[in-house]
Amino acid sequence: MLEKLKLKTFDAEEIRKDFPILERRVNGKQLVYLDSAATSQKPRQVIEAEKAYYSEYNANIHRGVHKLSQEATEAYEGVREKVLRLINAREKEEIIYTRGTTEAINIVTGSVLLNSLQKGDEIVLTVMEHHSNLVPWLAMKKRGIDVKFVDINDDGTLKMEQFEVLITKKTRIVAVSCASNLLGTINDARKIAKIAHENDALALLDAAQAVPHMPVDVKAMDCDFLAFSGHKMLGPTGTGILYGKRYLLEEMEPVQFGGDMIKEVHLTHATWNDLPWKFEAGTPNIAGVIGLGVAIDYLQKIGLSNIRMHEKQLIAYALKTLKEIKGIRIFGPMDPEIRGGVISFNLADVHPHDLATVLDYEGIAVRSGHHCAMPLTERLGETATTRASFYIYNTEEEIDRLVEALEKARKVFGV
Ligand SMILES: Cc1ncc(COP(=O)(O)O)c(C=O)c1O
Repeated sequence: MLEKLKLKTFDAEEIRKDFPILERRVNGKQLVYLDSAATSQKPRQVIEAEKAYYSEYNANIHRGVHKLSQEATEAYEGVREKVLRLINAREKEEIIYTRGTTEAINIVTGSVLLNSLQKGDEIVLTVMEHHSNLVPWLAMKKRGIDVKFVDINDDGTLKMEQFEVLITKKTRIVAVSCASNLLGTINDARKIAKIAHENDALALLDAAQAVPHMPVDVKAMDCDFLAFSGHKMLGPTGTGILYGKRYLLEEMEPVQFGGDMIKEVHLTHATWNDLPWKFEAGTPNIAGVIGLGVAIDYLQKIGLSNIRMHEKQLIAYALKTLKEIKGIRIFGPMDPEIRGGVISFNLADVHPHDLATVLDYEGIAVRSGHHCAMPLTERLGETATTRASFYIYNTEEEIDRLVEALEKARKVFGV
């Protein structure tokens, strides 16, 4: 069913051939897709895997004894092993399928483990968090739980010394992104988890911008929870993963109730299924998970270290070329060693939406706005920014197109 991937070494031009959408023209120009931090494009292998499920063995999982159901169950459950290997988890029971990072974090915040938090307990986050890793924690404030924030330095790195001060014996959980979706900053997640553990707090990592782009090892980082989205790593939308250490997942109560997450149901009571199904109520995104498995195969065939290397080269090139543009303000670290393939900027006083519209005329897809990080945007003293983000299929020539279009925009706006 799965076509053998032909890739041997990293070759963006070769990779591009697998992405039908990249052949599109937008406003008469060849599409330059620089919005992978929002969602990545999908290779035909992933598209075909979803199509094969629907056209060859579409059936609900777990509950059927018939052939199609068995095939669907096998394909769906088989993806857990791939996720386990991707992030170096210990056992399949630690891998919960979700709709994305947001749902993964909400499972943790909504579970009884955290419902047991008491008035006076503290949560430590950072000002660079995506709303997904911010709003679910803010919702706990009404129960008297205090939420504290680590600030950033002028270069967009975290003030690491503040973790030592803000994390105390009152801290129950520290929730931090591995890499910022706005600044690109790659955080020292391992060190943050260590400080959390020294204070008997748990560490949750938002790896939405990490797992697609670099090797991630939950054992090495020793995090308690890790959340990421399938659609940002070549997989279908509506897929994601919550990794949790088994003993914690065992302790936690489910947050969604219904079919499949139960062991026994009586009119008086019900008992919960074993891990990981305890957290997976109802018919899941079967096609999506199967597609995610193929996306993982694709990424691993290239190699996550190679992907990181490619993106490091792209970001180094983007930082070098964009900073020459008159009137540009680039946010985040200028050192590619600690920056993922994300570059947010503003051009003089041009509104990011206007700038993104001009870029769209040139066939260039970027994102403008607060990027679901309003507190960070405010902290930067801006109301919005324009963001270009890169992935395996992007090239230096596309960054040249971006620079040319930005120069054109300067003329259009007279800045
Ligand atoms: C750092 C970060 N966390 C969380 C999310 C939320 O991901 P999803 O919308 O797939 O749940 C995103 C998406 O942009 C992100 O960049």
